[in-house]
Amino acid sequence: MTAQLLTGIGELTTNDDELGRLHDAALVLDDGVIAWVGPAAAAPVADTRTDLGGRAVLPGWVDTHTHPVFAGERSAEFEARMAGARYAAGGIASTVAATRAATPAQLGANAARLRREAERQGTTFVEAKTGYGLDVASERASALAAAEVADVVTFLGAHLVPPGIDRRDYLDLVTGPMLAAVAPFAQYVDVFCEEGAFDVEESREVLLAGRRAGLGLRVHGNQLGHSGGVRLAVDLAAASVDHCNHLDAADIAALADSSTVATFLPACDLSTREPFGPARELLDAGGRIAIATNCNPGTSYTTSMAFCVATAVLQMHLTVEEAVFAATRGAARSVGRDDLGVVRVGAPADLQALEAPSVVHLAYRPGVPLTAAVWRAGALVA
Ligand code: NIG
Repeated sequence: MTAQLLTGIGELTTNDDELGRLHDAALVLDDGVIAWVGPAAAAPVADTRTDLGGRAVLPGWVDTHTHPVFAGERSAEFEARMAGARYAAGGIASTVAATRAATPAQLGANAARLRREAERQGTTFVEAKTGYGLDVASERASALAAAEVADVVTFLGAHLVPPGIDRRDYLDLVTGPMLAAVAPFAQYVDVFCEEGAFDVEESREVLLAGRRAGLGLRVHGNQLGHSGGVRLAVDLAAASVDHCNHLDAADIAALADSSTVATFLPACDLSTREPFGPARELLDAGGRIAIATNCNPGTSYTTSMAFCVATAVLQMHLTVEEAVFAATRGAARSVGRDDLGVVRVGAPADLQALEAPSVVHLAYRPGVPLTAAVWRAGALVA
């Protein structure tokens, strides 16, 4: 591959402790990785040169919470919520029915559409969950579709006990034959630990079975109340606990003292009208945070990480820099990838340029499509 020099960068957000933010920067990309980064005036010669005309450059978004394998949509449920109804886990069952009725090709095409939509908006890494099949064949088909479009796959058979099966029988299925069928295609196991879904002891059983099958742990916790999911995630040293809308002081202290990343989902909070999670307080206490879209047809039908970043700044009181970090390098840590979400020599050349001179514009101009270019492993993809 030919080395490519990107120059004319307005501001480069590196997320690298030593490099920080660079002005009038340049980058050399070679063989899919960053080969050089520094001031434009000192840039080495390369085979091709691209002048970015003063646009800001930052790492591609790392979206570590999505549910893109589904069929159908739930705009009527959304309208009812906007009219005052409260979100409840039961809505998942209608997507399960539509997903089971879809062919693998339809599921794959819908997931690919969402991945492409995200990529056009700067997303270069995606985690994707199963969880709308909820029988062995449909969960396996969902995992295969997820593996086609995502960088990391999470098994979420414990999303809900589907209609028509006894609760104990379903737990045995999820931790037995379903796990065995899906684990070969997944890297993580997840559970919806919430009233109306799975309680703490059931969630522990699912997570420990996943761990025995070689999977890392993720948890949906404390979305609709104090479910105990956050404390369970910390107890089991899960990679991530997601939602975190309802945290008390002890939860914040436990998270701050742990390696578990708290993944906040601001678009979901808006769509469900749950209180925003205390990301500011957790960050101040020394916790690790991430921001993700939670793209799914029920609670957060968006692929826009930029919207989530803007919301985290405007509503959750993060600085732009903190929100960008949480949506890139902070999220990458929750999937064990310290090389992603950072601009430094040797890192994959997963980058985006903005139609703006600095990342501040992401929150200063919310809702404006600012993505000017996206590179994945050094290739221009949008
Ligand atoms: O992360 N909370 C649980 N799972 C999804 C929503 C699923 C749905 O309602 O379809 C979420 O918000």
